Amino acid sequence: MVNKTEITPATWGVRSSFHSLVALLVASVVVAVLSLARDGSRFRPLPDDGASLQSAAGATTSCDLFSGRWVYNNASYPLYEEKQCTFVSDQVACEKFGRKDLGYRHWRWQPHGCDIPRFNATGLLERLRNKRMVYVGDSLNRGQWVSMICLVESTIPPNLKWISYRHNHSLIAFNAMEYNTTIEFYWAPMLVESNSDHPYNHRLPERVVRVQAIEKHARVWSDADILIFNSYLWWLRPEIKVLWGSFGSPDGIHKMEQAPRVYEMALNTWSDWLEVHINRSKTQVFFVSMSPTHDRAEDWGGLDGHNCYQETEPITREGYSGSRSRPELMRAVEAVIGRLRARGLGVRILNITQLSEYRKDAHPSIYKRQWHPLSREQLADPTSYADCFHWCLPGVSDVWNELLYAYILRNRSPC
Ligand SMILES: *[C@@H]1O[C@H](CO)[C@@H](O)[C@H](O)[C@H]1NC(C)=O
Ligand SMILES: *[C@@H]1O[C@H](CO)[C@@H](O)[C@H](O)[C@H]1NC(C)=O
Ligand SMILES: *[C@@H]1O[C@H](CO)[C@@H](O)[C@H](O)[C@H]1NC(C)=O
Ligand SMILES: *[C@@H]1O[C@H](CO)[C@@H](O)[C@H](O)[C@H]1NC(C)=O
Ligand SMILES: *[C@@H]1O[C@H](CO)[C@@H](O)[C@H](O)[C@H]1NC(C)=O
Ligand SMILES: *[C@@H]1O[C@H](CO)[C@@H](O)[C@H](O)[C@H]1NC(C)=O
Repeated sequence: MVNKTEITPATWGVRSSFHSLVALLVASVVVAVLSLARDGSRFRPLPDDGASLQSAAGATTSCDLFSGRWVYNNASYPLYEEKQCTFVSDQVACEKFGRKDLGYRHWRWQPHGCDIPRFNATGLLERLRNKRMVYVGDSLNRGQWVSMICLVESTIPPNLKWISYRHNHSLIAFNAMEYNTTIEFYWAPMLVESNSDHPYNHRLPERVVRVQAIEKHARVWSDADILIFNSYLWWLRPEIKVLWGSFGSPDGIHKMEQAPRVYEMALNTWSDWLEVHINRSKTQVFFVSMSPTHDRAEDWGGLDGHNCYQETEPITREGYSGSRSRPELMRAVEAVIGRLRARGLGVRILNITQLSEYRKDAHPSIYKRQWHPLSREQLADPTSYADCFHWCLPGVSDVWNELLYAYILRNRSPC
């Protein structure tokens, strides 16, 4: 059932390059001369046990971790080197694929009014002892899973860690033997069943979901101790086909519906499952909010037709939001989670949207494995194939995990 695989970056890398989500897009290049705070001195590590987050003044307080600014800090960041991460995938290994400007790895997230606890891999693994942590979602969530493994794996000797695959490779697990811990990723880009559920071959022209069916996926992860969901990018189409019935059955009924409506239906199916099947005194549940894309340089004052390609600095305008972002989809997530909370199940939103909106510099753009050979026209115009939705590692997804870590430390008992 479990097939154990040697830890070779090649194995994981080649596989993961199959996954790239969508083919992108329009163009880029932009000379945005931005003056940014470059301060290495303000960083004050907190006591490792971060039971509460402390305000700058030292008083214990509740603080919005998601509202803040990026501070250049090449002394403390990155938290690991790309080359040292055995498992980094070719979708996010930007340095390996030729990126020369490496400033994107040096930014620290500074919330207004408090500090994030310093990431401590051993501390986290201790917390995860005898536990199962599962990321469920799309390639952005897989990027965050890879980031988490990169963050912890250097503390584990080579013979005590490995990657294993189950459920026809929909489930990939990082095993940390001495802790009896697994950190897993389950591919379900639309959470409910869809025609994109194959972990590698899922780029299909049409998107079909079985909007009421989640059990096939959910029984794989519903007993986990920590669950981290996401689902956003795959819904960015005007319409999605809904299947009433099952895949492969001749009597299924198909109906085109507005995508936001189908998204809501899928989230309801998801939340109904959680309400019934999640053990509230055991499992902590998180939902990662939408991950913004940077495919329209006009949005941040760049040139028409350009995108994230050749961007090297974050956006500094507080509250910046790209025109492609779809807040109404996040409102749907908030509504569903609000109703779940009223029914006694707490789901924490990791509100990474705003902080990631600033990071137009942090996408792979052209520095990743290209799955399909590029045409002469594409090569002549790099913006045409730049990936402005995934994130280079080390980078932004590490910060998402630092925020997740802050909540795992804080919630000693489950929410
Ligand atoms: C770190 O950044 C500072 C300020 O930008 C710069 O002066 C210094 O040379 C950098 N150090 C390294 C090791 O890159
Ligand atoms: C990290 O956590 C471990 C285990 O809780 C602890 O022994 C160690 O001192 C911590 N390291 C730092 C740098 O705080
Ligand atoms: C290892 O962890 C699993 C949960 O992930 C648990 O069921 C099992 O009892 C643990 N094994 C030991 C020896 O503690
Ligand atoms: C794996 O795929 C095969 C063939 O598609 C299917 O019969 C089997 O049930 C799948 N196994 C799991 C664990 O999903
Ligand atoms: C829920 O989890 C707690 C803590 O792990 C455990 O003691 C309890 O038996 C579980 N309840 C059910 C119904 O599985
Ligand atoms: C997420 O953060 C944004 C910007 O700070 C805010 O407008 C939004 O209400 C937050 N959402 C949640 C669910 O906290």
